[in-house]
Amino acid sequence: MKIIFATGNKDKIKEIRAIFGDRVEEVLTMKEAGIDIDIEENGTTFLENALIKARSVAAHCDAIVMADDSGLVIDALNGEPGVYSARYLGRDTSYHEKNQNLIERLAGKEGEERSARFVCAIAAVMPDGREFTSEKTMEGQIGFEEKGENGFGYDPIFFLPEYGKYSAELAPEEKNRISHRGKALRDMEEQLKDVL
Ligand code: IMP
Repeated sequence: MKIIFATGNKDKIKEIRAIFGDRVEEVLTMKEAGIDIDIEENGTTFLENALIKARSVAAHCDAIVMADDSGLVIDALNGEPGVYSARYLGRDTSYHEKNQNLIERLAGKEGEERSARFVCAIAAVMPDGREFTSEKTMEGQIGFEEKGENGFGYDPIFFLPEYGKYSAELAPEEKNRISHRGKALRDMEEQLKDVL
């Protein structure tokens, strides 16, 4: 059995291979599987988007298909940027600009008023049509500055009070242990234990 992961992102596929690689014949990206379709991520939640992607690809192949959707949710901004995290202020705008903009929008807010979370939803569709889903979060606050060199995207403004560090200051293994994506992947692994 093969797993096709509906992403072009090399880092994501590496994480999936590390978790599921031993149990299946191959873990492929859509491109590697020769599937070239445009998927409109028009869901209003992370889970909807993950399911839209997984179902669209599953309709084109006879493998296990997994997809994920993730983003940053800021409470004081009514959940923005949310499912628009990658598109916030435009896909081509640098994360430095996006991050500075979010810090500015939270001016005057302190402590708990800056609460935020990263969310990751993962959906798996089996060749027989069965569906499995998982959604996990990493809780924190939007910091007052950008800090750290690791990670990507909004990691430099995501402060983890429990650790006294920004997400971009975590080593990759450290982040994987506590991150929304790491937790959702391990939960999916657990759910698929008896299936794979
Ligand atoms: P997608 O899940 O590939 O659609 O991307 C979601 C977007 O959410 C990314 O482009 C980032 O902007 C943001 N995001 C999701 N997870 C993380 C993370 O772990 N760190 C920083 N930004 C993230």
